[in-house]
Amino acid sequence: MAETLKVVVTGAAGQIAYSLLFSVAKGDVFGKDQNCCKSCPLFLLDIVATDDPMVAFKDADAAFMVGAMPRREGMERKDLLKANVKIFKAQGQAMDQVSKKNVKVIVVGNPANTNACILSKYAPSIPKANFTCMTRLDQNRAQAQIAAKLGVGNDQVSNVIIWGNHSSTQFPDVAHASVTIQGKTVPVPEAVKDDSYLKNEFIKTVQQRGAAVIKARKLSSAMSAAKAACDHMRDWFCGTGDKWVSMGVISDGSYGIREGLMYSYPVRIQDKTWSIVQGLTINEFAREKMDATAAELSEELDAAMAECEA
Ligand code: LMR
Repeated sequence: MAETLKVVVTGAAGQIAYSLLFSVAKGDVFGKDQNCCKSCPLFLLDIVATDDPMVAFKDADAAFMVGAMPRREGMERKDLLKANVKIFKAQGQAMDQVSKKNVKVIVVGNPANTNACILSKYAPSIPKANFTCMTRLDQNRAQAQIAAKLGVGNDQVSNVIIWGNHSSTQFPDVAHASVTIQGKTVPVPEAVKDDSYLKNEFIKTVQQRGAAVIKARKLSSAMSAAKAACDHMRDWFCGTGDKWVSMGVISDGSYGIREGLMYSYPVRIQDKTWSIVQGLTINEFAREKMDATAAELSEELDAAMAECEA
């Protein structure tokens, strides 16, 4: 049995955590032989339920930040930011004091990218690379769209990229993706043979999927979000091999994106360390989309930072 991990799940009474906790408990994320001590009993799990961040984050190895204030009808952006600054500031400060310095954090609660920046700002003793946000949900959705279009299983599609914000400005990009059909691996654009679909309907469907789920369920996605959060954390702990996955990570300026933005990039993960996939050719179409989502993130970050100073 491996050493016990302390895993924190915020918003643990909510609908996403309802699916997430079960996957963690049954070993889908950290491995079947991994004991987890949490901030409730299943066979791999001891649970501590608390609303005190100093207790919750103590010695944490991994944190799923699911709780946040999502935008509701009639709410101004400023109100949203104000509420989230308050939540993520308090949690960041607690993490800074009591979590392990190598804690791995995924922010799921929206606006996820900017919430992750706030958290990191208030936990300066923890490396910025340890704070990430979830765009795996978008990647899974994009992969599923392509797989359905081509009549193959989702796992036959690889290296779909999500660039930017987990919002309707995100850029789902299949220019570098491949698909295996009847044993033969080919580039996705070559297999789909429909540039107009890939540049329009495909992108829009993925960008709008969260809103479509809310419209249909009157609630935001839950099981798919929990699965994506688990995929993200599992790959972070176990590695990706040669395959790429998309994660919101702190920008180092790669691909001309403003340094310090929590921007979704394609990454490879080895020894629990992610690195941005470099050297991809970016055409004019992609550049425009990547910059548009970066502009939205910049605006969000500046407004959040102003709120932090207020
Ligand atoms: C999703 O992508 O399903 C959610 O992030 C949508 C939302 O705004 O909660």
